[in-house]
Amino acid sequence: MQLEQKRVAISGAGSGIGAAIALLFAREGARLLLSDRNAETLQRQVSACREQGAECYGVVADVAEVAGARAGVDACVARFGGIDVLVNNAGMLSQARCEEITLAMWDQMLAVDLRSVFLASQRALPLMRQQRWGRIINIASQLGIKGGAELCHYAAAKAGVIGFTKSLALEVSADNVLVNAIAPGPVATPLIDGLNPQWQRAKAAELPLGRFGLAEEVAPVALLLASEPGGNLFAGQTLGPNSGDVMP
Ligand SMILES: NC(=O)c1ccc[n+]([C@@H]2O[C@H](COP(=O)([O-])OP(=O)(O)OC[C@H]3O[C@@H](n4cnc5c(N)ncnc54)[C@H](O)[C@@H]3O)[C@@H](O)[C@H]2O)c1
Repeated sequence: MQLEQKRVAISGAGSGIGAAIALLFAREGARLLLSDRNAETLQRQVSACREQGAECYGVVADVAEVAGARAGVDACVARFGGIDVLVNNAGMLSQARCEEITLAMWDQMLAVDLRSVFLASQRALPLMRQQRWGRIINIASQLGIKGGAELCHYAAAKAGVIGFTKSLALEVSADNVLVNAIAPGPVATPLIDGLNPQWQRAKAAELPLGRFGLAEEVAPVALLLASEPGGNLFAGQTLGPNSGDVMP
């Protein structure tokens, strides 16, 4: 029970990595506020976490909206009287060559994958600083480090998440608010299931591990960062469960 009674908000918790983090945190005793824009998958995950014995609630929210990005934190505070751990996980992926990326695509990507991280973190910070305990875990991507063809908008957003994480860590570590990122490599979730199967096979073959990760293999990294004493010395770091794809 590494997170007993901890008040945790997780965005994009209805599927993939966010859902796996929610389930693992539920088993570790956390009180959970899950958010997602998909009401159906969100409700399923809330039920799954309750089956683990966790106190768990859901809020339907689109993090592309300003209020939606803050909704998970706000609901966590309303339900539990505060927030201890914030996991900024919600994200989207689309592919296009730079010349084909419209302004609307660019703005949507930056709003969902980067601006929401700023908005939710900003909402949680005063409470975390006041109680002199907080953990913020931002789900970035290895593509924010190495870049990716046809992914200028996604890679820019994720590189932004990493820069934001380091900068915020410099501001608030002294208040015992620890801010870190996780930059996964390819993980078998609905986010990439739709990508060309040939590309998926070729990509898996070039990885040192020879395979994509599973969401259940990323979730324990978030648990490490959220837990004590395991997470105590991480500040501004970007951890890379990436099948060996990037070795900084
Ligand atoms: N799967 C991978 O290979 C991979 C690799 C690196 C980073 N990531 C990152 O991990 C995070 C989770 O991705 P995943 O692979 O679990 O994908 P996923 O599609 O399985 O889950 C993403 C969740 O976020 C929700 N979501 C998307 N847009 C939203 C919005 N505007 N408002 C609220 N909720 C929204 C979706 O409904 C979904 O439940 C993302 O930030 C993604 O960029 C994934």
